[in-house]
Amino acid sequence: MHEFKYIGNELHCETVKISDIAKKVDTPFYLYSYKTLLDHYYKLKKAFSSINPLICFSMKANSNLAVLRALIKEGAGLDIVSGGELYKALRIGANPKRIVYASVGKTDKEIREAIKNKILLFNVESVPELDLINTVAQKLKRKVDVSLRINPGVEVDTHNFIATARQDNKFGLDLDTVKFLFSNLKRMSNVNLIGVHIHIGSQITESHPFIEAINIISSFVDELKKDGVRLKYFNIGGGLGIIYREETPQTAQGFAKAVLPYLKKLRLKIILEPGRFICGNAGILVTGVLYIKDTRFKRFIIVDAGMNDLIRPALYDAYHEILPIVESKFKSQNLEKADIVGPICESADFLAKERPMPRLESGDLLAVMGAGAYGFSMSSNYNSRPRCAEVMVIRGKFYVVKKAESYKDLVKGEIIPKVLR
Ligand SMILES: Cc1ncc(COP(=O)(O)O)c(C=O)c1O
Repeated sequence: MHEFKYIGNELHCETVKISDIAKKVDTPFYLYSYKTLLDHYYKLKKAFSSINPLICFSMKANSNLAVLRALIKEGAGLDIVSGGELYKALRIGANPKRIVYASVGKTDKEIREAIKNKILLFNVESVPELDLINTVAQKLKRKVDVSLRINPGVEVDTHNFIATARQDNKFGLDLDTVKFLFSNLKRMSNVNLIGVHIHIGSQITESHPFIEAINIISSFVDELKKDGVRLKYFNIGGGLGIIYREETPQTAQGFAKAVLPYLKKLRLKIILEPGRFICGNAGILVTGVLYIKDTRFKRFIIVDAGMNDLIRPALYDAYHEILPIVESKFKSQNLEKADIVGPICESADFLAKERPMPRLESGDLLAVMGAGAYGFSMSSNYNSRPRCAEVMVIRGKFYVVKKAESYKDLVKGEIIPKVLR
């Protein structure tokens, strides 16, 4: 469910006409619905209310400060993966005691900053990383809490690039290593191993891989108990799928109903790290048609948003529904298949392929749906294209929550050495 709907003939974000926003903000731009964002957060919170988990929004999905602020104001914690994300989290006033830190490649500097800022937990993904955290903590004369990320080796039905719990993925630690670490606790004077973490992948539409993974963790936690090791946290990661096309993902309620009996048995504080579920359908990318190009083989609709703005179709072959801002454009005409492509010099620069589309004209506006997660946060300056603006509708008004970059921003920090002058 989301708040992008036709009212009359025009697509609206909540009660605001998108074409009115496009009169004030140049396309392309990302547009977020505050109401949808909060609605998804509360769906999850309510579904799991019987165990009152810590819900840490996964910042990598969307790290716009207004998005983050909207969520932390409602009590969300944050899942971070870099020093930059920690910086942004602190900038919006997030409580460090509600921040968990994953990533396979945390640097010495990032670890130091996170310890100094007293985050809740590190989710540790390798033995040398654990050793480094211990050493840094020692130098800072601190004892830090750590969860070990376990790779449970479960198969999930999703794109290869977003499956993270297969034996050959780089993420997490295998169970034997985790057992070894728990039985050699003494060698780490400055870390408390107090939790386990999993994240089995993204855009997962069924509950059985989660249950399979939780069962593996349960047996492990039981073994630890026998050895006298008591844990405090179990972090189930993110991964809940959303509707992009015709998926029938589990609802928050359905997911909770399926996993709660298993989670409750663990008797640990549960952490969830949803990203896509909260913001995926809370955002769209609004783009304008530049040209229609008919070749002997195909029609191309060339738009002003490229793979630098939204890389998901190129990277994951992802499907995004594309809707006209003016609904009658689609209804009144025969549709013909076309590729919707951007201006970038790459054949992978497409938003949709072979999509039935009406005859559009230069200046028509299109909405690329389901672009709120891994949209702007994965955007780049490729082809020296300034990154676009982000806009949020809040209670009937729209706000630019990130200005589009300027050409000047493109050269920020670049230096021509004297020898080249
Ligand atoms: C450790 C971790 N937690 C949470 C997430 C969020 O995943 P999703 O957006 O699928 O909920 C990710 C995504 O890559 C992740 O790596």
